[in-house]
Amino acid sequence: MRHSSLFTAISTLFASPKYEAKYPINDLAVTPQMGWNNWNAFACSVNEHLLLSTAEKLNVVGLRDAGYKYIVLDDCWSVGRDGKGNLQYDPEKFPRGMKYVADQLHSMGYLFGMYSDAGSYTCANYAGSLGYEEQDAKTFASWEIDYLKYDNCFNEGLCGTPKISADRFRVMKDALRATGRSVLYAMCNWGEDFPWRWAHTIANSYRMGGDIYDSFSRPDARCPCTGEEGDHCSYAGSHCSVMNILNKAAYVVHNSKIGAWNDLDMLEVGNGGMDDEEYKTHFSMWAALKSPLLMGNDVNTIDAKSLSILSNPAVLAISQDPAGIPVSRMWRYYVNDTDAYGQGEIQMWSGPLFGGDQVVVLLNGGNRTRMMNATLEEIFCHEMGIAPEIKEDWNIYDLWANRMDAATAQSIIDGTGLAPADVYYNVTKLSFKDGLATGNPTLLGKLIGMVEADGVIKREVPRHGVAMMRLRRSKTRLRAASAHQVPLGL
Ligand code: GAL
Repeated sequence: MRHSSLFTAISTLFASPKYEAKYPINDLAVTPQMGWNNWNAFACSVNEHLLLSTAEKLNVVGLRDAGYKYIVLDDCWSVGRDGKGNLQYDPEKFPRGMKYVADQLHSMGYLFGMYSDAGSYTCANYAGSLGYEEQDAKTFASWEIDYLKYDNCFNEGLCGTPKISADRFRVMKDALRATGRSVLYAMCNWGEDFPWRWAHTIANSYRMGGDIYDSFSRPDARCPCTGEEGDHCSYAGSHCSVMNILNKAAYVVHNSKIGAWNDLDMLEVGNGGMDDEEYKTHFSMWAALKSPLLMGNDVNTIDAKSLSILSNPAVLAISQDPAGIPVSRMWRYYVNDTDAYGQGEIQMWSGPLFGGDQVVVLLNGGNRTRMMNATLEEIFCHEMGIAPEIKEDWNIYDLWANRMDAATAQSIIDGTGLAPADVYYNVTKLSFKDGLATGNPTLLGKLIGMVEADGVIKREVPRHGVAMMRLRRSKTRLRAASAHQVPLGL
């Protein structure tokens, strides 16, 4: 083949429809999806009022404009199928139907998420979509949904190898696409059959493990895997603590891709089982690992601390960073100060951000406040040779130091103080991408010091807490008092 025809052949190959899509599935979830799902706080107690009143409240306290745009209905909404096999919503729970809910949510500036299951029944024993994919996708499209959470119960034994699971979940992906409606597809097969190896060809997000439980580190027999088995967990289970999920995610999260994210499960912030530091850690890590951020609390009774966690723009800017690269765990050590469950460990996670910044999280899973250190060498550890970043100076921004104070958050909840639009970063007006590109200070956090080339970052980290930082190349070389030390509290 002559050079020119070889060139033509190659360009034709890349111009073919196979290569047209910019992202693996569709153009959705270019950053991890943000929203609210009823399951963690309400389980099967769902109805029209819950969804619409939550949406209204999220608007009032400013969380819609902080980026949470999907309102996702979970299990227990149907009463089975009619004589023609069409899924029927429960008329008592949804008296005006799903299209009405979708219309209301759309008019409030939200997108609407629906739930079904790639099995004969859902996990709570309602009708599943296996064998009805096309028909159900058409029904969902006629209701104008924008998101489908697709579960894995009662799958008729169609699991056991990646191919069998992938084939089953792909049917709904294709059925949704065939409707012509743009629907974010959130696969929920709990890490079964290694979805991190194949689900990026099928779904916008995929659950990597068992159901979350509102506890920082409590072990539970119902969640048997701990992460020690690497990515080979044979039974995902439920009642998985935050630390349990993180220790499993460490092995798989790097497989995330833009448009196809590892899902660590929905947030528990505000549900009462953890203290403030623990919820900050939970939220920080879900953001840094690029998990979808689906709030799972009762927003109608939200408290000030939860609001100030969920709305923190400096942490949300990590979640929604345009580079879309999850942090990696750079080290993990066990410590002697264990908690009531005998758990005690410290970890450091790090990853690149858009524009050459770096996010670093020092996680203290021990039972007391401690000083923690991370060297630039550990933070920028490369497999091959010395990372050039180690030889540079970095400004350190603390991502929690500018957290909204409790009084301001309470006044927003009570509607007695400033409007949220005056306090928050408003993504409805300026996207995270554009805000980051122009260096919007709200998204950076608070400048607390600098680490020089070859230096070390030292931070005091509370029990079960994090020090979460953005590093940005220092333009003006600030001399630290002693070489390689961080001048804290600038
Ligand atoms: C589970 C799923 C939960 C919730 C529940 C509903 O399988 O992981 O997130 O959707 O089913 O029954």
